[in-house]
Amino acid sequence: MLPRYNGGMTTHPEHPCGVTLISGASSGIGEALAYELAAKGGWVALAARRLESLQTVAAKCEALGGRALPLACDVAARADCQAAVAQTVAHFGRLDTLINNAGITMWARVDSLADGALIEQIMRVNFLGAVELTAAALPHLKTSQGRITCISSMASQIIAPGNSGYAASKAAMDSYFEALRAELIDSGVSVTLYNLGFVETGIASRMHDAQGQQSGSIAGLIPRGAQITPDAAARQIITATVARRRRVFSSVGGVPGRLIAVLRLLLPGVIERAGIDFMKRGGL
Ligand SMILES: NC(=O)c1ccc[n+]([C@@H]2O[C@H](COP(=O)([O-])OP(=O)(O)OC[C@H]3O[C@@H](n4cnc5c(N)ncnc54)[C@H](OP(=O)(O)O)[C@@H]3O)[C@@H](O)[C@H]2O)c1
Repeated sequence: MLPRYNGGMTTHPEHPCGVTLISGASSGIGEALAYELAAKGGWVALAARRLESLQTVAAKCEALGGRALPLACDVAARADCQAAVAQTVAHFGRLDTLINNAGITMWARVDSLADGALIEQIMRVNFLGAVELTAAALPHLKTSQGRITCISSMASQIIAPGNSGYAASKAAMDSYFEALRAELIDSGVSVTLYNLGFVETGIASRMHDAQGQQSGSIAGLIPRGAQITPDAAARQIITATVARRRRVFSSVGGVPGRLIAVLRLLLPGVIERAGIDFMKRGGL
């Protein structure tokens, strides 16, 4: 049973995830996660850069029966991450779950990049953003014996020409948070890594190109029926978070995710060929 909310009004969040801080909650999967939690009595702190969109999401969460706090936060900035955690705890009195979801992606060949700026930006958002939020949240999560969930990608389990920086950022997330899970073994804090396949959020048509513009797209290459909805993804992610699952690999185009991960080790040439074909069909 969760302790009483120390800010008054209702006693405590009814959802087993309790008070949840979600990064990247202004659209897509993060937005769907907020509604999934709020509809079942969860209290959510919503972090992203676009405050107006967060305010709209927060209003819908409250209409669904949850409580919501919109927080302007660029996860690439350490101070913003620290402030987001501090404001969550100040407002709700506690923090039970952190979902590291904010992410950006790319569609560009490495030899088309003038320098490493795009890769640095992706690492700052996808990997270091999760590192910073987690560092700030950890003392509170230890107190609540809470949960950390990281939204990773099956891109880290394949060979991903054209999407190198994104795949690298998710591989970094996978390794870092697996190590953290082991370090936290006696703390009561769980770490769930969720390696997602394709989700219908539009991110596939807003990928950063070599000039850093969000004009890259692989949307036309995703097989019909291979995408799940953000709502379905959110339900699966929350189920895994509540159950404190270690790791979930999504299937991609009907192929089980665990099989893809094993094939990369056993038959790297086959996985590489598939990646090269995908990149060429995507015009790179
Ligand atoms: N959709 C898929 O097929 C798929 C597959 C595997 C994994 N994923 C992962 O799922 C997560 C969510 O993606 P999505 O598909 O829902 O994409 P999305 O609709 O583009 O949402 C991305 C979210 O990240 C936020 N964000 C981006 N940069 C940020 C920054 N610097 N600081 C704070 N927030 C930032 C965006 O909000 P603002 O712009 O308001 O900051 C937005 O809320 C990502 O980590 C992505 O890698 C997605």
